[in-house]
Amino acid sequence: MQIKVEKSPLAALTGDALVVVAFEGSRDDRFAPALADLYTSGEIAGKALEMTLVHQAPGSKARRLLLVGGGPADKFGSAELRRAAAAAVRFLKPKSVLDITMLLEAGFATAEDVAAAVEGALLGDYEPDIHKSEKKDVKTVKQFTVAVPGGGAELDAAAERGRILGESQNLARELGNEPANRMTPLRLAERARQMAAEQGLECEVLDQDRMKQLGMGALLGVAMGSAEPPALIVLRYRPVSASSEAHLGLVGKGVTFDTGGISIKPADGMEKMKYDMMGGAAMIGAMRAIAQLKPPLAVTAFIPAVENMPGSRAQRPGDIVTTLSGKTVEVLNTDAEGRLILADALVYARQQGCTHLIDAATLTGAVVVALGHINTGAFANDDTLLEKLLAAARAEGEKTWPMPMDEEYKDLLKSAFADLGNIGGRWGGAISAAIFLKEFADPAPWVHLDIAGTAWLDDAKPYMAKGPTGVCVRTFVNLAMNWNG
Ligand code: BES
Ligand code: ZN
Ligand code: ZN
Repeated sequence: MQIKVEKSPLAALTGDALVVVAFEGSRDDRFAPALADLYTSGEIAGKALEMTLVHQAPGSKARRLLLVGGGPADKFGSAELRRAAAAAVRFLKPKSVLDITMLLEAGFATAEDVAAAVEGALLGDYEPDIHKSEKKDVKTVKQFTVAVPGGGAELDAAAERGRILGESQNLARELGNEPANRMTPLRLAERARQMAAEQGLECEVLDQDRMKQLGMGALLGVAMGSAEPPALIVLRYRPVSASSEAHLGLVGKGVTFDTGGISIKPADGMEKMKYDMMGGAAMIGAMRAIAQLKPPLAVTAFIPAVENMPGSRAQRPGDIVTTLSGKTVEVLNTDAEGRLILADALVYARQQGCTHLIDAATLTGAVVVALGHINTGAFANDDTLLEKLLAAARAEGEKTWPMPMDEEYKDLLKSAFADLGNIGGRWGGAISAAIFLKEFADPAPWVHLDIAGTAWLDDAKPYMAKGPTGVCVRTFVNLAMNWNG
């Protein structure tokens, strides 16, 4: 998709379609009489993501005019704009409208808005159809123009930033869409290596032997049931000159398929468990953008990649593993594998010099019970870092909700035979999982994001295809870009 910012006035805008936002309770008379009846009949009400397409509207040189509903004007921010742009693209491209101009007007034409519109266009354009021989939607948008009449030079840089972020989020979605037979731990490592080579990042992949030498017993325990060898993917970004002593570690769960292992999951819906690597995919996407946007902060991503299978060498319930930290864990349920691999990766990140840690993981079904599919759950051992992360998430329109981490929850993880058990019982399951991770992240300031409910769309939305969402990529990049401290 070609991206452009156009600064000429409305009357000069051309293309297959001009997209204009229509707000609730207001009437756009610039294209009268083409729209007069539609307003009068209530067909255009400005409700969020409502679409009205008219041809050859007077007042516009574009072939078509698409009014996309923005909802109430006072609640329309960059998050709503991102979705409006995405929905407009998804509405237009099946009609072979592939040269689209979106008009940003007073109140939503800042640099941030331009970036959001471009991100939306890229996110909306993405289709998970690479394995279909007859593509339902072969078309992809050729040209997306953001029109800001009279806009300044800073908008070009903003559009470029939007392009980097949209493409990087789509990379994470692409990785998550690959089924587990095509996205094994080693293939994921190969994709990370390829991205790193393209972007000038350092990539190191620790293999099973290296993990044994280091003592990553928890990660290796999960890998035992699969014929596919595990990999610990490390991606390093170093700034030319750092403005901070901090070194951010991004740790992402990379379970390329989660059968549950010996504590096997029910068959119904198991196919979705190919998305159990979306935490890792988010880190790969974020590192791609970080490599291009170059924040003055050292960032390293760690992605423990493994397949959780019930093979004949699989670990059993009751097995005790020794983690990289030296703590022992009784594996009471082999389906609670995410926390096992993250435990070793978090400790390794600290050993590698990371001063601050963020992890993202499709960790628990319980977080979906707590927050549904709207908010990512955030758990932290440090309020300052949590606040920074929540601010980044807010700025990027990625809803994230803080969860409790009281000391008392730790009792849930008691084991009769080891230092810790890997499950905490039926209640508060997302919290006990986070408390388990805290044992390995401490004393570094750390935030854990449980994205089980937000990393996958069960049904397509007007602004996004069904499947992986690429959630958190933008939040992580925003956090790195605005670090200070
Ligand atoms: N990958 C799952 C969590 C998950 C569940 C992600 C549903 C997305 C949708 C994780 O490895 C898991 O199986 N967790 C168990 C933990 C339990 C055994 C304590 C769960 O949530 O049921
Ligand atoms: Zn599991
Ligand atoms: Zn899992």
